[in-house]
Amino acid sequence: TMVMLSTCMLPLVLSTCPNVWQEIFQNCNGRSQSPINIVTRKVHRDERLTPFHFEGYQATFHGRLINNGHTVQLELPSGIRISGGHLTEKYKAVQFHLHWGKEGKPGSEHLIDGEQFPMEMHIVHIKEKYDSLSQAAKDRTGVAVLGFMFQESESNNEKYSPLVDALKRITEPSSNTTLTGVSLEMFIPPQKSLTKYFRYDGSLTTPDCAEAVVWTLFESTIPMSRNQLSAFYQLRFPDGKHMVQIYRPVQPLNGRVVYYSNGYISVASWVLLTSSVLFSSAVL
Ligand SMILES: *[C@@H]1O[C@H](CO)[C@@H](O)[C@H](O)[C@H]1NC(C)=O
Ligand SMILES: [Zn+2]
Repeated sequence: TMVMLSTCMLPLVLSTCPNVWQEIFQNCNGRSQSPINIVTRKVHRDERLTPFHFEGYQATFHGRLINNGHTVQLELPSGIRISGGHLTEKYKAVQFHLHWGKEGKPGSEHLIDGEQFPMEMHIVHIKEKYDSLSQAAKDRTGVAVLGFMFQESESNNEKYSPLVDALKRITEPSSNTTLTGVSLEMFIPPQKSLTKYFRYDGSLTTPDCAEAVVWTLFESTIPMSRNQLSAFYQLRFPDGKHMVQIYRPVQPLNGRVVYYSNGYISVASWVLLTSSVLFSSAVL
């Protein structure tokens, strides 16, 4: 079902789709949908959001990189797991994929204080007891996605060269190629910078939009040059058009709370803290 996307998917409104799509889109009008705009002055600090433990993120592997007709996805081998971070149990990594915009336009799914980033990566993990994403999607906390925002940099991010170079070989939908000698660690910021993150309960951002995802969005961004970003826009959809603007618009919060980790102190709280200290010493 993940492959069956059409213009009916955008803007993901059930009523604009024929009845045959009802099942595919069954949860997309739910009340805990993703992505969202994270308003940092409204987030709640939660001390239980401790650092993650990353298992197998350093191991090198050969992975299949696929243009699946709606994004580019890297299949991950078994043995990569996460725990900690107030997850109730261990989750295993199954794939990562990306969301992007078009030349000169941002394309992340999540926004932070209304800011959209050039690209966003999702490392999809499922509870160890499940065999597939579709099985995990039936459990309200069956899926844990780690989300990373990209920021445009002057120079190329060399760690992404193998992936970016491989995109030329999979411009056509349903094509694939192998990335050799890569590790998950290469694609994300250094582990010590991953203690600051946002957490909320949401959904898959593609149909059937199952509300089964424990979302984690890291504050630390991944640099990528404009040239490297351009390589993604050369991929093609099944209809032959360039694969651009592959992100879902932000969804209503509907009373959900976004939490932030212990490691995170917003600039606003620093300013308040510092100015109140200065103010009280002035009074004294
Ligand atoms: C990868 O491509 C080959 C050759 O085109 C094809 O036979 C195979 O099914 C593809 N694998 C995946 C996982 O898409
Ligand atoms: Zn995604």
